[in-house]
Amino acid sequence: MSKKALITGIAGQDGSYLAEYLLEKNYKVYGIVRRNSVSEHQSSRLDEISGDIETRYGDVLDISSLDNIIKDIEPDEVYNLAAQSHVRISYEIPQFTVQTNALGALNVFESVRLNSPNSKIYQASSSEMFGDSVDEDGMQRETTPMRPVSPYGCAKLYAFNQLRNYRFAYKMFASNGILFNHESPRRASNFVTAKVIKNAILIHKQIKKDKLEMGNLDASRDWGHSYDYVRAMHKILNHSKPDDFVVATGETRTIRDLCRIVFSYFDLNFEDHIKINPKFFRPQELPYLCGDCSKIKKTLNWEPIYTFEKLVEEMIEKTLQYY
Ligand code: GDD
Repeated sequence: MSKKALITGIAGQDGSYLAEYLLEKNYKVYGIVRRNSVSEHQSSRLDEISGDIETRYGDVLDISSLDNIIKDIEPDEVYNLAAQSHVRISYEIPQFTVQTNALGALNVFESVRLNSPNSKIYQASSSEMFGDSVDEDGMQRETTPMRPVSPYGCAKLYAFNQLRNYRFAYKMFASNGILFNHESPRRASNFVTAKVIKNAILIHKQIKKDKLEMGNLDASRDWGHSYDYVRAMHKILNHSKPDDFVVATGETRTIRDLCRIVFSYFDLNFEDHIKINPKFFRPQELPYLCGDCSKIKKTLNWEPIYTFEKLVEEMIEKTLQYY
């Protein structure tokens, strides 16, 4: 009999890749989507697989919807990917971010405990939890102290610790993936990779005449591909025991490097086309991320397939199709 997986946040970048991946593995895939008063554009990332998955209306802040769905499905695996996922926006709407990313996660864990305690739970934890903390060798790993520097990071750290509490207190199979930045052609254009790529294309095609306004170009990020990272999520839940794993590439680049690489694809010098707007800075910046993924490589035999260059090339080529 095929396994049943329930994905909160199924309509997002990772949710859609994960749903496709689990379908390939012959899972019956269920997803929770929020009911908006208009249905247009709510689940465009799921268009190609909409006939193969089953979506239910619900919300991680609506406990009765979670209880009904989890009790009814009794999934083998629950992937909690639902979140307010934008770090700068978390400064504008801190309470909503904490409600969704921290209390919403707790609602999922508690609903699983009460309604389907044998379901395994994956929690989408984030490298943003490390904040300004870096080990002496310039990397972050499972043992690195966590000192978040944003409402988003604080909320994710709450959920990370709460999930561990469910593992130890109730002996539930509950695991965290500590995912560093991960992108894809499905990335929304308010995240830096997709923003730079979309605007470099608009400038190259002379559709955009003014300069691209950016925030902090000195920040450094470890970027992987969402497809590789959902493979890691599945491996984490199919390990022999619950545990926490960093998922990263081990390479870091500045936003300036990203701009240079993307604009040079179109033979453009990024410095001619970018201007700094303080609006895109965060009240407190997370300056540097570089993940040591040796634990997941060794324990679960996970390796990223995509290089950074291949990721950027795929994002550029797919985005070009829209213009
Ligand atoms: N979004 C954005 N827009 N970021 C900019 C800009 C800009 O115009 N200019 C500079 N940046 C810098 C940000 O300050 C940050 O240092 C970096 O680009 C990356 O920003 P985002 O792409 O918005 O991602 P993030 O690192 O804040 O958060 C992402 O990664 C986390 C994992 O570490 C998100 O995917 C989170 O959901 C995820 O948990």
